[in-house]
Amino acid sequence: MPSIFASVSALLLLFSNCACILAVKPSTGCGKAAAFGGNRTTTVNGKQRWYLVKVPDNYNSTRPHRLIFTFHGLADSGATVANGQKSYLPYYGLPPLANDDIGAIFVAPTGLNTGWGNTGGEDLLFVDDMVKTVEENLCINQDLRFSTGFSYGGAMSYAIACSRAKQFRAVAVLSGGLLSGCTGGNDPIAYYGQHGLGDPLLPIAQGRQMRDKFVKNNGCTSQTPQEPRSGQGTMVKTKYAGCGEVYPVTWIAFDGSHIQTPVLRGETQTFAAVETWEFFKQFK
Ligand SMILES: *[C@@H]1O[C@H](CO)[C@@H](O)[C@H](O)[C@H]1NC(C)=O
Ligand SMILES: *[C@@H]1O[C@H](CO)[C@@H](O)[C@H](O)[C@H]1NC(C)=O
Repeated sequence: MPSIFASVSALLLLFSNCACILAVKPSTGCGKAAAFGGNRTTTVNGKQRWYLVKVPDNYNSTRPHRLIFTFHGLADSGATVANGQKSYLPYYGLPPLANDDIGAIFVAPTGLNTGWGNTGGEDLLFVDDMVKTVEENLCINQDLRFSTGFSYGGAMSYAIACSRAKQFRAVAVLSGGLLSGCTGGNDPIAYYGQHGLGDPLLPIAQGRQMRDKFVKNNGCTSQTPQEPRSGQGTMVKTKYAGCGEVYPVTWIAFDGSHIQTPVLRGETQTFAAVETWEFFKQFK
């Protein structure tokens, strides 16, 4: 008998200690008919907020999906991201790539005053509210929550990495800056960053600084990654060593400006969507 208890507790210990994701964690929305999506409103911190939810055409209510937040930059809205206006691809170009055997629900929230000031943490509370509501209504794998965004939206994804590392699996920060705060900021989380060498608005030094927080938190080997030379129209991608499979860090420095859809010389489409997706899809 003691040996059974010993092996059961050893097993429990193994499961609780293992940072790797061993099981799917379905949300309470699994099994419910999908009568959810489109423009949703909520009140957070006494303020009305709205966000757009994209449910795939082939939505299967018993399959736990990824939940992917896509935050807009300054002067834009959830609609700019959802519709792919200005220089955006719809939901950062991810939906066609995410249409695999797991699938994804996309959320495009709208900031106050068209940005993500996150005053007093109110935008993080908005995130908590959206996670709760979406997961009560749609079938989500609670171990597969992601966030990405450009500029101010990158700053907000960084704030999520700092404060919600245990709730989110990974973030992708596109030309972000330190604009939405970093409360906490001591936990590891899988981190992808991309930044233009010639960014005049949010200099690449900020992108490097943000990256380095998670290089440290994730236990990666510190390094100064190679970056392209200005005028070459190229990018250099660095996958940090030492962080392991659970909390990887990938960094892309590109020869370019402040743009969510950078295109390399000789190419016609941005690498941003493909690279973000390559980073997110490794988590199952
Ligand atoms: C979503 O609803 C809110 C609140 O009614 C509204 O202000 C906003 O313009 C709507 N957004 C879209 C894209 O319809
Ligand atoms: C829905 O997903 C479940 C769980 O992944 C799967 O067993 C089932 O075959 C799927 N149904 C359809 C119609 O694809």
